[in-house]
Amino acid sequence: MRAIVMLCLLGVAVANDPYYSWNGPNGKESTDPATENVCLMDTASCGCCLMQKQMWRMETFFNMSLSQLQRDLERAEAALHNLRASRSAFSVALTDTRRCLGPFREATAIRYEVVFLNLGAGYNTSTGVFTAPRAGVYSLALTVYSDAGSPGATLAACARLRRNGSVLAAPSENNTQDQEDSTSVTMAVQLNAGDRVDVTLPAGCFLCDSSSHFNTFTGFLLYATD
Ligand SMILES: *[C@@H]1O[C@H](CO)[C@@H](O)[C@H](O)[C@H]1NC(C)=O
Ligand SMILES: *[C@@H]1O[C@H](CO)[C@@H](O)[C@H](O)[C@H]1NC(C)=O
Ligand SMILES: *[C@@H]1O[C@H](CO)[C@@H](O)[C@H](O)[C@H]1NC(C)=O
Ligand SMILES: *[C@@H]1O[C@H](CO)[C@@H](O)[C@H](O)[C@H]1NC(C)=O
Repeated sequence: MRAIVMLCLLGVAVANDPYYSWNGPNGKESTDPATENVCLMDTASCGCCLMQKQMWRMETFFNMSLSQLQRDLERAEAALHNLRASRSAFSVALTDTRRCLGPFREATAIRYEVVFLNLGAGYNTSTGVFTAPRAGVYSLALTVYSDAGSPGATLAACARLRRNGSVLAAPSENNTQDQEDSTSVTMAVQLNAGDRVDVTLPAGCFLCDSSSHFNTFTGFLLYATD
């Protein structure tokens, strides 16, 4: 009995050796039917003890792999959830009916009435202001159109794209030689959470729209940076 215990301890020592492979000390596979038979015949035998040791190691290995997989899955799920929660895109047009806006004596905020898309509800339809839900790189696009054929017309297609009141871009087409003018701008901008993006009509500018939606304001989060 003492000899068996000694052999078994030796087996444990071998099993704990980091250089000890999955093979038995004699290069035999531990699942060798001969070893299994030993175990069936005598559970206190050294062969059985070694086999149990191997099974314990394999179980530890698979448990570790399983918990690693679970951690990876949780991380992937969190990333996906984050991606879904940060979705932000809006696209709006000035009007749906044939109508013009301006010219005014003072710069006036433009409220786009037609909402094509407002994913994440960042665009406020009563103020015309888009508030960035989170920090990130956003794509912003603005197109303006003016028509000198409309009543009271002056031809000056111009507007200002602003962030927190500061001008990001001031697209303008002020040409008296023709009937219609249009201009546009597209930018990639780093915004902070809470930054307010809007469009104003500077004094003298004049925009016309119809169901063709010549005046559009669009923005979306390209990727979050927080
Ligand atoms: C492997 O995980 C199971 C289930 O959580 C547990 O019962 C068992 O004791 C673990 N085995 C080892 C060797 O850690
Ligand atoms: C839009 O802005 C107004 C004025 O700041 C505010 O009262 C209103 O709650 C906002 N609407 C939404 C949907 O956030
Ligand atoms: C813009 O204004 C918002 C709201 O007041 C503020 O949270 C944000 O930090 C401002 N951004 C910049 C770049 O000043
Ligand atoms: C357009 O050009 C005319 C002639 O140069 C000028 O008087 C007018 O102020 C300009 N309008 C705007 C909005 O820039």
